[in-house]
Amino acid sequence: MRNVSVSLGSRSYHIKVAAGLLARLGAECAQLKLGQRCAVITDSNVGKIFAAAVLKSLSASGFEPVLITVPAGEKSKCLTIVEKCFDELAAHRLERKSFIVALGGGVVGDLAGFVAASYLRGIPFVQVPTTLLAQVDSSVGGKTGVNLRAGKNLVGAFYQPQLVLCDLDTLKTLPQREYISGLAEVIKYGIIYDAVLFAQLERNLPKLLVRDEKTLSQIIARCCEIKAEVVGQDETESGLRAILNFGHTLGHAIENSSGYGKFLHGEAISIGQVAAAKLSQKILGLPSGDVERIEKLFICTGLPVKIKLNPTARKKLFAAMLLDKKVSGGEVKFVLAKKIGKVVWGQKVPLPLIEITLG
Ligand code: NAD
Ligand code: GLY
Repeated sequence: MRNVSVSLGSRSYHIKVAAGLLARLGAECAQLKLGQRCAVITDSNVGKIFAAAVLKSLSASGFEPVLITVPAGEKSKCLTIVEKCFDELAAHRLERKSFIVALGGGVVGDLAGFVAASYLRGIPFVQVPTTLLAQVDSSVGGKTGVNLRAGKNLVGAFYQPQLVLCDLDTLKTLPQREYISGLAEVIKYGIIYDAVLFAQLERNLPKLLVRDEKTLSQIIARCCEIKAEVVGQDETESGLRAILNFGHTLGHAIENSSGYGKFLHGEAISIGQVAAAKLSQKILGLPSGDVERIEKLFICTGLPVKIKLNPTARKKLFAAMLLDKKVSGGEVKFVLAKKIGKVVWGQKVPLPLIEITLG
């Protein structure tokens, strides 16, 4: 088993990565000295496959779990579902020492984390991420929250889990498109922080594409280490943490302007990262060889690197970009790369240059 620590003083925790961890969930929670009663929040897809194993493991260690299942999909990340979860927690008399287990992808993790952050002003929670994206990104670092009609993630809290359990077996049932989408976040870590990881991804891509367990275990743990290092230095994104948004300025605008669901998150940020690499070449002199390697790795992974825009779609995309949280004083700020493995944040990019780069 690989073990990564997130060092945040009294809010520190471990991320454990291995196959077969669901069966150990109860024993792991017992070590955290949590209350007896707990709620497992999951979605309708994940619950069907994994809820029974999770409930069995918790009960075997003496916990009294209740299951709360929300509909699968981004629409469940909303205040109506938060309220339904609160009502269920209250009906089952969960108290201050009780805890929540978030079993699912980023949607469940963000929702359940926010419910845990706010129910009784905060009860402990454990992340059990079941998508690649959630294992390498959303379950780590404490960003929790839900969407408003006005936009994504507009209500939330920084609230750290007590533990993150990444069971590699859960990835076996993940639809291929979701899996490939998660790889876009994996590649991001190489570009922003670790040239050795990037080269390893280039070499080991065939193994990753067939979900080879040994390769996955090492790569997921490395991504978690990078995220832990970044979050450990800047938990609430006053600076460095912004580097995790490489490719996201355009990526979020693509997701938003095309209507959520057309592009998965990883697909949108794949296009965003390649555009950010091309902007980096123009603004920071990122070597053309690095731009080519970045574009090639996304293409070989099976991710889109370009978007076709008619004039209306182009207008919508730019309007969405100007609404993003990363815009201040009307200027769009980007994370740009100096070389593979080294990026800088807060780079102002003129709109006409983004227009030209998108083609
Ligand atoms: P998701 O949670 O919607 O999961 C994708 C789909 O896969 C869903 O249909 C789900 O039911 C299904 N699924 C999950 N695990 C499965 C498994 N093991 N087998 C079969 N099916 C499975 O999507 P996601 O990509 O995991 O997460 C996206 C969300 O994460 C977005 O809301 C995004 O805003 C959020 N996010 C948060 C952070 C953060 O730091 N908190 C970071 C990145 C993304
Ligand atoms: N996924 C971006 C962050 O956690 O900051």
